[in-house]
Amino acid sequence: MRKMALVNQKGGCGKTTTAVNLASCLAGKGRKVLLIDLDPQGHAGLGLGVKPDQIEESIYEVLSGKIQIIEAIKTLEKNLDAVFSNVVLSAFEQVMAGVPEREFTLAQGLKEIEDNYDYLIIDCPPSVGLLTFNALIACDEVIIPVDSSSFSLNGLGKLLETIQIIQDKAGHELTFRILATNMDRRTNFSNRVVETLRARFPRNCFETEINTCTRLREAASAGKPIAEYDQHCAAFLDYQQLMKEILREEAKMKAKGFALKSFVEAKEKVKEPMEKEVAFIIEAPEDAGVQIAGDFNNWVPESLDLTHSHGRPVWQKAIRLSPGLYQYKYLVDGRWVSDPSNKKRADNLLGSTNSVINV
Ligand SMILES: Nc1ncnc2c1ncn2[C@@H]1O[C@H](COP(=O)(O)OP(=O)(O)OP(=O)(O)O)[C@@H](O)[C@H]1O
Ligand SMILES: [Mg+2]
Repeated sequence: MRKMALVNQKGGCGKTTTAVNLASCLAGKGRKVLLIDLDPQGHAGLGLGVKPDQIEESIYEVLSGKIQIIEAIKTLEKNLDAVFSNVVLSAFEQVMAGVPEREFTLAQGLKEIEDNYDYLIIDCPPSVGLLTFNALIACDEVIIPVDSSSFSLNGLGKLLETIQIIQDKAGHELTFRILATNMDRRTNFSNRVVETLRARFPRNCFETEINTCTRLREAASAGKPIAEYDQHCAAFLDYQQLMKEILREEAKMKAKGFALKSFVEAKEKVKEPMEKEVAFIIEAPEDAGVQIAGDFNNWVPESLDLTHSHGRPVWQKAIRLSPGLYQYKYLVDGRWVSDPSNKKRADNLLGSTNSVINV
């Protein structure tokens, strides 16, 4: 089972819309899909025509150990099952306070259905609390929808830091991909956002972009996935495109003889063997705290090592990088500085510039 979570602490960026429509497209293509709504707002259910008061066995009962997940699964259409949620789920964090290993509750609950589905898609709430931690630990892949009409790199950086922390805790690799949503090619802002995302995360952006399309809103209000509501609108084509992109990866992995469930390990094994060692070097006083952060480490600062060159203190780190463009910056005594020895710079949408290196 390939397990994906839709995550972003920013509200209204397209998590639920993507969860519902990706699940529906994959099911339409013959994959067996389980959609789990992990958001107490219960929007995934609403988007599929299920009202909160119609939900008797929700994901809350599963997570609190009252029932097995199999008892909460509802079949919606051929190949598409779901476990819904409602406002009761907002008590989860409080109820579990102090319970050891509470971040692993969902992963544990999923074990009994591991072989029943090809895809698991989890819709997360707009916060990085216990529910999202559970989703990240249960999944191998994270899809981060980014609203390209109101974008902030600050929030994204924080989220990537969290994913890194969870990855260490979960003890397994989490791949993340950014999906540009609400894209309006006619506006400079949307275009710049997508360019920035692609430059910063060259291997972590979906090729597919989801355009702004009012039919998505209408479909959600009608309680239908877009495939059932309007197969002629831009959003239907975009979500079909996303589904195809995801299936292309599946096909690549299968062609290389890997089972779908080992997708993440397989992805690691087929990584291009073309990495180069790049030396990052900056002069700074011996007693300074010097770190580097960039696209290559998800902007989580890493310390540099002190050496000396011509009697002067120099900080350096060798990092192995695959070919591509990378933005980066040094953090010297808590202050972000561009690389003084590299003139190549790019606007970072935060009012300053990053250094750019082409490997
Ligand atoms: N590409 C799009 N074009 C137009 N409207 C969209 C698009 N994607 C989502 N929407 C609409 O934007 C609103 C927010 O989308 P959605 O509920 O998917 O976001 P979310 O990230 O799940 O929000 P929350 O964080 O509250 O869970 C919804 O009304 C949805 O129908
Ligand atoms: Mg949502």
